[in-house]
Amino acid sequence: MASDLSELRKEYTGASLRRKDLAANPIDQFETWFSQAQELEVVEPNAMSLSTVDANGQAWQRMVLLKAFDQRGFIFFTNFGSRKAKQIETNSRVSLLFPWVSIHRQVAVSGTAEKISSTESLKYFVKRPYGSQIGAWASEQSSVISSRSLLHAKLDEMKRKFKSGEVPLPSFWGGYRVRPNTLEFWQGGTNRIHDRFLYSIGADDSWNIDRLSP
Ligand SMILES: Cc1cc2nc3c(=O)[nH]c(=O)nc-3n(C[C@H](O)[C@H](O)[C@H](O)COP(=O)(O)O)c2cc1C
Repeated sequence: MASDLSELRKEYTGASLRRKDLAANPIDQFETWFSQAQELEVVEPNAMSLSTVDANGQAWQRMVLLKAFDQRGFIFFTNFGSRKAKQIETNSRVSLLFPWVSIHRQVAVSGTAEKISSTESLKYFVKRPYGSQIGAWASEQSSVISSRSLLHAKLDEMKRKFKSGEVPLPSFWGGYRVRPNTLEFWQGGTNRIHDRFLYSIGADDSWNIDRLSP
């Protein structure tokens, strides 16, 4: 089975991406590519780089996990006191990158991040394993700490606090949805003849598609 998939990959990465093969809607196109990334065993295909900028215009990035997507956008979860969250508060314009290097593809997204409702965050939080729920309570993400043992002490404290019953959703933890303005699909080709298609949203919420030179 695994060897079948690797054969598929070889053929696939050699293939070109044509306009006629593209979905009119970029989220539909993303869904197709995401399924293919899963089939082709890309490691953690939902790991994406999130770029934000600080108040000085300095860019920062880090990996986060995509936990859901639909026509409204891409959802990830984090600590609302973290560096990224503070930067999003200052400037909600962010960018995502899915680096599917092993299949010679990338998808880059630009858009605006907004918090999802606490009801939506709770729906996801209750599905997380106990350890991750406690972990969310224990870490003041992005703050400077003097030692690892402090973190363990905090974790033990939270285990004692929430040893019975449900772990509540921390008020400082939840999801962001990135509403896309542009999505670029990049397919590596032979002789550096790569295919790039940029979807941009228009004033009437319709999507325009341009082929870009590699
Ligand atoms: C593969 C991978 C997935 C990650 N997923 C998340 C995530 O979903 N949410 C999160 O807050 N941090 C995640 N992290 C940790 C972040 O990269 C980052 O270290 C943390 O969120 C603090 O970032 P900040 O200080 O810029 O806010 C992940 C790291 C890796 C390598």
